[in-house]
Amino acid sequence: MNQIFTDDALTRSIRHNVLKATPRSDVSTRTIIVSNRVPTPSEKAATAGGLAVALADAVRPGTIWFGWSGKRADETSKVANITVHDDVTYATIDIAEQDYYKFYAGFSNAALWPLFHFRTGLLRFNRPDYEAYRTVNRAFAEALVPLLKPDDLIWIHDYQLMTMAAELRALGVTNRIGFFLHIPFVPPALLQVLPAANEIVAGLSACDVVGFQTAGDCKAFLDSAELLLNAHPDAEGRYYHDNRMIHAVVTPIGIDAQKFSQLARRAEVTADARRLRESLGERALVLGVDRLDYSKGLPQRFDAFGRLLYTYPQHRRRVNFLQIAARSRQEVGSYQTLRRELDRKAGDINGEFSDFDWVPLRYMTHAVRRSAIAGFYRRAQIGLVTPLRDGMNLVAKEYVAAQDEQDPGVLVLSRFAGAADELTEALIVNPFDADEVAEAIHLGLTMGLEERRERHEALLAKVRYSNASRYCEAFLGYLKDPN
Ligand code: G6P
Repeated sequence: MNQIFTDDALTRSIRHNVLKATPRSDVSTRTIIVSNRVPTPSEKAATAGGLAVALADAVRPGTIWFGWSGKRADETSKVANITVHDDVTYATIDIAEQDYYKFYAGFSNAALWPLFHFRTGLLRFNRPDYEAYRTVNRAFAEALVPLLKPDDLIWIHDYQLMTMAAELRALGVTNRIGFFLHIPFVPPALLQVLPAANEIVAGLSACDVVGFQTAGDCKAFLDSAELLLNAHPDAEGRYYHDNRMIHAVVTPIGIDAQKFSQLARRAEVTADARRLRESLGERALVLGVDRLDYSKGLPQRFDAFGRLLYTYPQHRRRVNFLQIAARSRQEVGSYQTLRRELDRKAGDINGEFSDFDWVPLRYMTHAVRRSAIAGFYRRAQIGLVTPLRDGMNLVAKEYVAAQDEQDPGVLVLSRFAGAADELTEALIVNPFDADEVAEAIHLGLTMGLEERRERHEALLAKVRYSNASRYCEAFLGYLKDPN
């Protein structure tokens, strides 16, 4: 099994880029965060999603968080609905039912999402979906403009809003605009499969700063700009388009490691953690926590667990695999197909290996509270994070932060997760090879305490270093700095 795939030069270049961005504390400048989903104003750390945690440092008094209200209406709102909480303004708009479906289930999640996760076979493109995507991006821009002041920094997030900056420019906005892509970017040969590829790259080129999770994603974007826009990026990732300079940067996202470790320690004594412990007895726990998404490699992961039980019978009755796969995007066909496939595979594995007092695979599709999950990570001997492609994967970082430093578990991590660029002391695997993943689980389950501690110490240092605040500092540093 290949354990270390990471290019150290790549890691160094990421670190260099992250460090290079020195933030200026400028209290007069407001940050306007734009994302499709907006957190509920009162969300606390224990319930907040990855984006709310990652952006905690960017959300200060005066910040505006702008996005979709979560409501589908007869018509898209022209004016944002405003709620102020702790001096932060949450500005949201409703989207017309008909547009939202095409924008969300259509172009965003049946075209961009599969393509950007290297799954061209799942890509479904049609012009009405793309037009709705443009319409919704325009609606976001139109409703944001009245809220803007000249010095505001605008920070747009993720693939649902790739053409919004271009719409803002068309409306005369001259503020500095940044965009961060949370998912991977694909090389031009793949990107060109999308009929709207040029518009997407041109849309991003309306920004001043475009940020990526890894050096590989950033390079793929620059290669695409070169090929599709005839741009000439310099060695620092800067190029000109429409008489403006764009800077492509690498600013990997992170978690608040300190807070997450505390959450996991506290969770150990909760009723949920006790129930899980009691249900496991002395058995080891292999844990997977994901959205139910085909990019996460869940069927392959189930197969790998089956191979573990087949190849290493010593683990039978001594291990449980718990897969939490929270249902997601059920309005998109490929997600329904995946769910059926997993139901079947889970049945096959349990049918094959179960005993009258042991069911090897526990598989659940409803979401579990973040605080409970933190306790589950801490109990798990193996954190199984094996996506086929992933922008970063914060589960990998959370699993590391949640461990007991004296007796840590082992992270088994796909080489195709952005996190693998940094977390090189994990057992790095190719998720397409079930036997390799099974071998890594076996290695993790039998690994001595000293090696587990050594690996964990190195991983924890990285998770603490490349954390949520550094992510915000690095990105906002670039966004504030016009050079
Ligand atoms: C990923 C994407 C986010 C998205 C989230 C949940 O993390 O990068 O942009 O919000 O999945 O997906 P959903 O479709 O429910 O918003």
